[in-house]
Amino acid sequence: MKVIPYGKQFIDQHDKDVVKKSLDENLITTGNFVNIFEKKIKNYLKVKYAVSCSSGTSALHLAMLSINLKKNDVIIMPAVNFISAFNMATNLGAKIYLADVDSITGQITPETIKKCIQNNKIKKIKAVITMYMGGYPNNIINFYKLKKKYKFIIIEDACHALGSRYRFRNKFLNIGSCNHSDICTFSLHPLKTITTGEGGIITTNSKKIYNNLYTARSHGIIKSKKNHWMYDIKNSGFNYRLSDLNCALGVSQLNKINLFLRSREKIAKTYIKNLNNFQNLTFCIDLKNIKPSFHLFIINIDFTKLKKKKDDLLNYLKTNNIICQYHYIPIYKFKIYKKKIKKNSFLGSEKYYKNSLSIPIFYDLKLNNQRKVISKIKFFLEKNNLK
Ligand SMILES: Cc1ncc(COP(=O)(O)O)c(C=O)c1O
Repeated sequence: MKVIPYGKQFIDQHDKDVVKKSLDENLITTGNFVNIFEKKIKNYLKVKYAVSCSSGTSALHLAMLSINLKKNDVIIMPAVNFISAFNMATNLGAKIYLADVDSITGQITPETIKKCIQNNKIKKIKAVITMYMGGYPNNIINFYKLKKKYKFIIIEDACHALGSRYRFRNKFLNIGSCNHSDICTFSLHPLKTITTGEGGIITTNSKKIYNNLYTARSHGIIKSKKNHWMYDIKNSGFNYRLSDLNCALGVSQLNKINLFLRSREKIAKTYIKNLNNFQNLTFCIDLKNIKPSFHLFIINIDFTKLKKKKDDLLNYLKTNNIICQYHYIPIYKFKIYKKKIKKNSFLGSEKYYKNSLSIPIFYDLKLNNQRKVISKIKFFLEKNNLK
């Protein structure tokens, strides 16, 4: 019996043809396809600058370098997130504070940021990393208000949210347009909205940040305008470039993004329709103010009431060839987190961790497979009397 994963890429013949074509170009890195891809992303997101790079992780690293995040600078980030932002800030020697997340959305809120500032008596904040779990961007306008108050830089870890939009007054704005942030980062890993194999994108409306990103992406090299063989280096950089092969795939995938988003939306709506009459099963979806990318479909179940553990459901689904996932183990649970954890500082994160799991959603998830996922979850809940 075929396994149903929680996420999966979709590659068609056109994708393969374009990648093949890129191999015949004179330059297969720093070439035309890189420029085309970045231009297309810029137009799609309606933002001034877009820089491609080798991964979502390098996107976050470059974003931090571009604002000169350095030793002992304070950065606040979600207690529940993929480890990338924490790792990159750790490597730069920043002082990291984890803010608690909402127990249903798995995201930081203006209240949890304020609480983090108060509890830790933080005076000066260099940056806050926001993250849109599953591709549902909550609280953007309120984060922006906090930014004005505390004067910090907002870096959006929007690795789940390419294609997500949020309501501002009477229109919808793109995540990545940086209308309410300084820098936005995306991942182009195979499970994301579109893929380049591995890859990342950073967007900004600031010329200064763009120049810093551009330079740091390629060893810190600043080329002379006069002679192509001359260059200088002021600050150290990395090789975080994305090749033309990857960008060619990105160009082809971006042409299909609306198709991908529509399909994920349809799948999500089917889940909502079929799972929303269980009192103790909740979702984190506000379709009025948000048009999500539906990168993940996360359900929250009151496992305490059920007298079961989340792993019981994960194991039950696994024995039925349905692979679900944790998003994510809270960062303070890892050995790399060295600070003492104050009592009650992560109540939302603890609850979210206990109750949430991601169920399958991807472009070509077939309806019969989705029905199987729904019926197995229903069976598990009904068998355990959770109506
Ligand atoms: C929220 C988040 N941030 C950062 C990353 C890192 O992206 P990448 O795997 O492209 O380095 C991921 C990847 O899964 C992610 O989900």
